[in-house]
Amino acid sequence: MSIKQNPLTTRKSMSIPAFFSMLLCLMFIAVNSSALPGCQNKCGNMDIPYPFGIGKGCALPWFGVNCNTNNFTVTSNDLGNLQILTFLPGEIRINSSRWIAYDCNNSASIPLRINLIGTPFTISNSLNKFVAIGCDTLGLVLDNSSFASGCMSMCLNRESVKSDGSCSGIGCCEVSLPKGMEYAALATASINNYTNVSNFDNCSYATIVEEESFKFFEPDQRNFLKQKDLVIRFDWIIGNESCTIAENSSSYMCTENSYCVDAPRGYGYLCNCSEGYRGNPYLNASAGCQDINECAESDPCVPSAHCKNFVPGYKCTCPFGRSGDGTKLGSGCTNHARIILIILVVCVGTGLIVGLSSMIYYGLKKRKLMKLKEEYFYKNGGLLLKQHVSSIEGTKCTTIFTSEELKKATNNYEESRVLGRGGYGTVYKGTLVDGSIVAIKKSKVVDKTQIDQFINEVVILTQINHKNVVKLLGCCLETEVPILVYEYISNGTLFHHIHGNSSSTLRISCANRLRIATETAEALAYLHSAASIPIFHRDIKSANILLDENYTAKVADFGASRLVAMNETEIPTVVQGTLGYLDPQYLQTSQLTEKSDVYSFGVVLVELLTSQKPVSFQRSKEYSTLAAYFKTSTENKDIREVLDEDIVREGRMEEVEAVVQLAWKCLRVKGEKRPTMKEVAQELGAITRFVPSSQAWFQNEEEMECLLERPQGNPSDESGLSIQNNLNMSLEIGR
Ligand SMILES: *[C@@H]1O[C@H](CO)[C@@H](O)[C@H](O)[C@H]1NC(C)=O
Ligand SMILES: *[C@@H]1O[C@H](CO)[C@@H](O)[C@H](O)[C@H]1NC(C)=O
Ligand SMILES: *[C@@H]1O[C@H](CO)[C@@H](O)[C@H](O)[C@H]1NC(C)=O
Ligand SMILES: *[C@@H]1O[C@H](CO)[C@@H](O)[C@H](O)[C@H]1NC(C)=O
Ligand SMILES: *[C@@H]1O[C@H](CO)[C@@H](O)[C@H](O)[C@H]1NC(C)=O
Ligand SMILES: *[C@@H]1O[C@H](CO)[C@@H](O)[C@H](O)[C@H]1NC(C)=O
Ligand SMILES: *[C@@H]1O[C@H](CO)[C@@H](O)[C@H](O)[C@H]1NC(C)=O
Ligand SMILES: *[C@@H]1O[C@H](CO)[C@@H](O)[C@H](O)[C@H]1NC(C)=O
Ligand SMILES: *[C@@H]1O[C@H](CO)[C@@H](O)[C@H](O)[C@H]1NC(C)=O
Ligand SMILES: *[C@@H]1O[C@H](CO)[C@@H](O)[C@H](O)[C@H]1NC(C)=O
Ligand SMILES: *[C@@H]1O[C@H](CO)[C@@H](O)[C@H](O)[C@H]1NC(C)=O
Repeated sequence: MSIKQNPLTTRKSMSIPAFFSMLLCLMFIAVNSSALPGCQNKCGNMDIPYPFGIGKGCALPWFGVNCNTNNFTVTSNDLGNLQILTFLPGEIRINSSRWIAYDCNNSASIPLRINLIGTPFTISNSLNKFVAIGCDTLGLVLDNSSFASGCMSMCLNRESVKSDGSCSGIGCCEVSLPKGMEYAALATASINNYTNVSNFDNCSYATIVEEESFKFFEPDQRNFLKQKDLVIRFDWIIGNESCTIAENSSSYMCTENSYCVDAPRGYGYLCNCSEGYRGNPYLNASAGCQDINECAESDPCVPSAHCKNFVPGYKCTCPFGRSGDGTKLGSGCTNHARIILIILVVCVGTGLIVGLSSMIYYGLKKRKLMKLKEEYFYKNGGLLLKQHVSSIEGTKCTTIFTSEELKKATNNYEESRVLGRGGYGTVYKGTLVDGSIVAIKKSKVVDKTQIDQFINEVVILTQINHKNVVKLLGCCLETEVPILVYEYISNGTLFHHIHGNSSSTLRISCANRLRIATETAEALAYLHSAASIPIFHRDIKSANILLDENYTAKVADFGASRLVAMNETEIPTVVQGTLGYLDPQYLQTSQLTEKSDVYSFGVVLVELLTSQKPVSFQRSKEYSTLAAYFKTSTENKDIREVLDEDIVREGRMEEVEAVVQLAWKCLRVKGEKRPTMKEVAQELGAITRFVPSSQAWFQNEEEMECLLERPQGNPSDESGLSIQNNLNMSLEIGR
């Protein structure tokens, strides 16, 4: 007969040196001890797990162990000390070699009582069996009240007794036990007074044994009392309540990471570590239930998977492109081409949908923008301009730029390209696709009522090619406010050269000053009289007179003031023209006439003569405007004190005085008393002996043709007529 060693005890078995060192360390708290901290956790090589324990306070009541004899006492009427062979969760295995009821040679029968009443122990019903041994035998088992059971064994001769370890009715019989037996009374007797078996067997035995370890062989029958390896199993519980009650009670025994289990016997409870934990569920902290590092201990994942421990539990991760739970017991890691394909299809599909919808979105947005552009184009008189343009098709006279072209030319209206800013808007330096450099003027607001007039002027101005007028190359009507594109004049403004003091300013000689004045006057005179609708500049000032690389004067911004809103009710706030140059009569009539340009020119003339700013608060208050200062000081003082010293030094005095007189005339308060621009130009020409040549109006034949070509459109078209009139007029001037 052999008793199977339980794996739990073999796992913890130790070598002999380890055992001695263990003894030395008994005073210390063993790290992985299953005993109560501070208590002896081993007896010999056997672990004594709490609630069992050695010594006072180291065990729960009934669970105290006496290590010296490797036994412990259960208060029992008949059993005395119990030799525990194995400690198991909720169970103990006990050496039951002497626990036998017997009846021999017809002498008095010896019964056996196992009384566990009042202890936490009961006789395990699932692992124990009641057995009776003999060839003329009746075995009985009873509890203290209601239960009674037993079995009978008969055999004819010794040879008929089976001897294969099983207990199957010939020489040995067995019965099961009821649940939760606290008390068992065992008895045995002969049925026929051993009459027919006395020659080979005069005894009967009864006992309760661990079914697993009990083996019956024939020779045992004759000397059963000398059996040395009988084992009985007892159940134990930690509390006699059910879990639902225990969990709420103050005496609940299950510690952290453990849970309550109702005992199999039918009442009371036990504790068990939660899944993924291991340890003693009745102890706290490090001795209690601890996480199991499954990855380090048992390697639960398939070789290709990566194992990661969690508290509690673990996770196996399959390598990229493979799927499954990665565990050896589960699905492992499998190549799932189909899943990858599905993911791919989903990704591509999503991409397509996103792409398509964004295309639709931007398409709609673009269409909206196009519509807006078209709207602006019509509102800004684009149709009218188109008619003009188509009427003179085949030439390069007027260009209608698209907003995209201009955006590209100015690099989306980059700050570094700003040439100048003013109340009217901003001027940018732009480079067209063909490489030519242009000035692009972006105005702020436009007066809608003047659109037709504006278009007419644009048409006329683009066709005019006077050498002293900044050429208007075209316009863009697709924006809310029309954008004008001019030729780029490289050397800045006259204002800058007269009043500036940076390194780029130029000292202008007297002769040059007179030349610039003459050129400006010519340009103005031409525009005042060249067209059927006289084009007034409306904002003559030195800042609007540009100088090209040869320092030839170029008048900029003709008719541009049309782009400034002129609401009748807002006249005082939106003053056309620039302070200091403004016709005083305009303040009374609110009308800008050609004589307003003459007045402003007069101020420029004085500016050229004196190099003084048109408005300066360094002069006394009543002379803050240059016109007033000039008038008063030339009346009262020596003219030389007022004039620029270069002019006094270089100029011929009679010539200078004539210009001063001319300035006087231009600055007359009453517009009608001022000379016309044509007269001014002629007089300046005479003074400077500058004879204007007719060739100056047009630079080449092609441009002549452009203006000469008759419009093909509706003859009653007013704008067409205006061009025709314009042509006649310019030809007259030419002659
Ligand atoms: C069990 O231990 C007690 C002392 O605690 C001792 O008296 C008794 O003899 C021991 N029994 C056995 C069977 O060793
Ligand atoms: C029964 O009788 C046999 C033979 O007479 C003897 O060997 C044996 O010891 C007896 N048994 C008992 C329990 O008296
Ligand atoms: C049997 O034992 C139980 C305790 O387990 C007790 O409650 C009961 O009264 C006993 N019955 C008899 C007949 O002694
Ligand atoms: C059984 O046999 C013995 C002798 O072996 C005898 O003394 C006894 O009276 C018998 N008992 C019965 C009930 O027959
Ligand atoms: C004993 O054996 C004899 C003969 O073999 C038989 O007649 C008798 O009935 C048996 N007695 C019992 C009780 O079986
Ligand atoms: C059984 O008992 C009887 C009388 O008591 C005796 O004669 C006989 O030898 C015994 N048998 C054995 C096997 O002990
Ligand atoms: C059981 O007890 C008997 C006697 O008390 C003894 O001879 C035997 O060695 C014990 N068995 C074990 C496994 O300790
Ligand atoms: C449960 O056990 C406690 C002591 O552990 C005892 O006082 C109580 O009477 C027991 N209750 C029952 C129903 O056995
Ligand atoms: C346990 O106690 C809680 C309050 O602490 C209570 O709400 C609950 O009903 C109790 N459960 C049982 C089974 O007594
Ligand atoms: C305790 O838990 C383990 C696994 O964690 C399980 O195998 C065992 O059966 C449980 N014991 C009880 C009494 O529930
Ligand atoms: C575990 O800790 C709790 C509370 O900290 C305490 O009441 C209990 O007695 C401890 N149990 C053990 C076995 O040390």
